[in-house]
Amino acid sequence: MSSLEAQISLYEPEIRAFQPASAADLEQFRIRFLGAKGLLKTISGEMKNVPAEERKDAGQRLNAFKNLIEATFDAFQQQFAAGVAAARPKADISLPGSPIPMGTRHPLRIVESEIISIFENIGFSVATGPEVEDDWHNFTSLNMHEHHPARDMQDTFYVSKDPDWVLRTHTSSVQARIMESQPLPIRVICPGRVYRNETISARAHCFFHQCEGLYIDKNVSFADLKQALYYFVTRMFGADTKVRFRPSYFPFTEPSAEMDISCTVCGGSGCNLCKHTGWVEILGCGMVHPNMLRNFNIDPEVYTGYAFGLGVERITQIKYQVNDLRLYSQNDVRFLKQFQGI
Ligand code: DAH
Repeated sequence: MSSLEAQISLYEPEIRAFQPASAADLEQFRIRFLGAKGLLKTISGEMKNVPAEERKDAGQRLNAFKNLIEATFDAFQQQFAAGVAAARPKADISLPGSPIPMGTRHPLRIVESEIISIFENIGFSVATGPEVEDDWHNFTSLNMHEHHPARDMQDTFYVSKDPDWVLRTHTSSVQARIMESQPLPIRVICPGRVYRNETISARAHCFFHQCEGLYIDKNVSFADLKQALYYFVTRMFGADTKVRFRPSYFPFTEPSAEMDISCTVCGGSGCNLCKHTGWVEILGCGMVHPNMLRNFNIDPEVYTGYAFGLGVERITQIKYQVNDLRLYSQNDVRFLKQFQGI
């Protein structure tokens, strides 16, 4: 047997059995048999050693071998090309894209951030405190002793009795914690969630949000309080907004007041929001009670301070005419969507 025939018979079974697992396998095959230094080239080189009388047959044999290699290669190459095409997603890139639904910030968050940024502009920093609070920080230190009637103003959720732990009923508890732990002067706002044992209705909820403000320094007066709140209101509701203060009572402030703003809906002529009075109440405030200062070893002869507490739901209701408190926690997308982009 000639060396040419010997080599062809050696490789033929391998080629017939060839099953590439990947395009890379097929490429290896191509290089090995059809490459510039491949076996087909080497074997063809044997032709010159074939005696002249056998050359015709040998030529045909070599040709058949070459066809076998090329046909094998071509068949698999087509198969891989078709596979790649089939795997490719049949996307029509000229179609409009499917929109990704946009989330929105919750209206209470929108308003809370706005409150924070307004007060930050006049030097307040943000402080937070725990929602589960002890009696001292939620009541006693705020000049509300055990039998103080003012405790009835707020229906409290008790987490435990003796010692008393409560879900804080107001963010004034954070005021107490700040007075206890921070050096003077203090100028903070304390946003957060508060809890009260109320039957849920359009006008009451068992949890809601407040933002407390506290400023303690030498020579802080009621005029400073009015000025800060006036600044807040005109930034929040517009430069034309009017304010008025009504005397009120809170155990932790003396004197105390409630502040109303001119109705932003009817401008004062009378509507449902202002119950036809032209005014809407937005917060409670006052000068920090000397007893409270003493509770935290702050000398009321040297330092004075003001405090205020506003309801975030209330501000949001006025600003966006939300008339039912329950909407804030129902997670109804139709409600939330209306705040998109704000
Ligand atoms: N803590 C009061 C409440 O929840 C709100 C309040 C009123 C806070 C007057 C104050 C204040 O700091 O001075 O009803």
